[in-house]
Amino acid sequence: MVTNLRTAEWYSGDDRNAYIHRAWMRRGVPASAFDGRPQIAIANTASDLTPCNAHLTEVAQSVKNGIYEAGGVPLELPVVSLGETQVRPTAMLWRNMAAMATEEMLRANPIDGVVLLGGCDKTIPSLLMAAASVDLPAVVVPGGPMLTGHFRGEALGCGTDVWRLSEEVRGGTLSQEDFMKSESSMIRSKGHCNTMGTASSMALVAEALGTVIPGLAGTPAPDARLLEAAHETGRLAVQLVADDRRPSTFLTKANFHNAIVALAAIGGSTNAVVHLLAIAGRLGIDLTIDDFDRIGAEVPLLVNLQPSGKYLMDDLQRAGGFLAVLREVRDLLDPTALTITGRPLVDHLDNARIWDRDVITPRDAPLQPAAGISVLRGSLAPGGAIIKPSAASPHLLKHRGRAVVFDSIEDFRARIDDPDLEIDETSIMVLRGCGPKGYPGMPEVSNMPLPKKLLERGVRDMVRVCDGRMSGTAYGTVVLHVTPEAAAGGPLSVVQTGDWITLDVRNRRLDLDVSDEEFSARRPNEATLEGFAAPRRGWERLYVDHVLQADQGADLDFLVGASGSKVSRESH
Ligand code: FES
Ligand code: MG
Repeated sequence: MVTNLRTAEWYSGDDRNAYIHRAWMRRGVPASAFDGRPQIAIANTASDLTPCNAHLTEVAQSVKNGIYEAGGVPLELPVVSLGETQVRPTAMLWRNMAAMATEEMLRANPIDGVVLLGGCDKTIPSLLMAAASVDLPAVVVPGGPMLTGHFRGEALGCGTDVWRLSEEVRGGTLSQEDFMKSESSMIRSKGHCNTMGTASSMALVAEALGTVIPGLAGTPAPDARLLEAAHETGRLAVQLVADDRRPSTFLTKANFHNAIVALAAIGGSTNAVVHLLAIAGRLGIDLTIDDFDRIGAEVPLLVNLQPSGKYLMDDLQRAGGFLAVLREVRDLLDPTALTITGRPLVDHLDNARIWDRDVITPRDAPLQPAAGISVLRGSLAPGGAIIKPSAASPHLLKHRGRAVVFDSIEDFRARIDDPDLEIDETSIMVLRGCGPKGYPGMPEVSNMPLPKKLLERGVRDMVRVCDGRMSGTAYGTVVLHVTPEAAAGGPLSVVQTGDWITLDVRNRRLDLDVSDEEFSARRPNEATLEGFAAPRRGWERLYVDHVLQADQGADLDFLVGASGSKVSRESH
């Protein structure tokens, strides 16, 4: 049978090559599998070393059932997977590699469409980047957050409470022994982090973008409804191929508008900024960091989840879920943006309800009136820097202080608890050498722990400035993604301890108060540049030679854009 499917180029006809393509796939598979049925890959990031995604093989089985039911052929494709807590120096170094490998394998193989199974922080971004560049019909199933663990009667938020409890140990209000006891309670079940960290943010943002069946994202990993939705997604994937609904056919800037509104309303991770910029870059959509401020800054914070608030992901689900949040900001959403269902996102909101107004606050009584990410510029960040005001201390959003500069995270760790370090709560901690090139991958080290001597005095926040990223589960008045980074010769490389820095979030400024003459006379600090030794081979070499700065999503320059799904020359 000859069809117009992409995979007909492998399986149709009775020549020698079609024979080879079919025969090696048979192994019990009936001939009918190759009679023109859509071949649907399940790009699976399940891995024992990505514990947040380890359950996705079970989810894949439900997707397979749905694909079979709809008349397609499911094909599981294990893809590069990144475990946020385990991979060094940072999972972000490999996001683009995972995206590239997935893109190439989807293009090289007999595939008509793909279901993307992700969860842990970098996995959904890398899958979406790949899908955008290969431009085959694609739909995401987010693996879902874990259930809430408890310790001594209190809920534990993944990540956020690790930062909090470890600061309490250093501040002397929690014993080391009790801290250790909490370790086994932190991860209660399968699933990804249960705070509004990067994994939760990217799952919800992927749904706002239109790439997930509306209502699915946020369903906890152990919840039976996840498997039901996975089954439904499998069926949908077959339909997507029939309708030829590829990413380029429905993802427009309007979809990114909705993603940015959603990110602000949920108090989502700052990492979503680089991921959305990278995904948009693959689609040729002109999205800039300034769009995050322009579209998101005035959006109210409605979701009371850690790190900006107090609850956790299964509370959000119980309270009505993500669609109830979107319904509150419906007037801010772009009604033209279509989803994977073929219908606009706003069409899916009618039946959503808030069942707990402490978890999802209604629009007229928001947790914070304006909570989106702010983009700062000034002499210290000519290319821009970002801050998440909802996770910062209001009294520090306008602050002038003297810099205490660290040339690397190792330098920071060596000196921060030195009782003689000249630092007080008005100081501004500056950490450099942590950008995409400088500490390849741009690790999440920007939320530097406070000096022990200040913690003991009850100080809980200080202004911090860094060219790196911060975990989506972290909090504090932290200026991130300073661009250009120090290793690329940005102004951060010439800051000296004792310089005055002014942060003014309302006016979107981050300035180094040094005269123009002195500024241009200064040379980049050698210790910072020494820390940046260009790797000689391998992925890291490719990465530092080609990575773009944070304001462009930290993608590789040659991966921006798409190559499509054109079938290559025959292999024999
Ligand atoms: Fe995997 Fe947090 S470590 S989602
Ligand atoms: Mg992280």
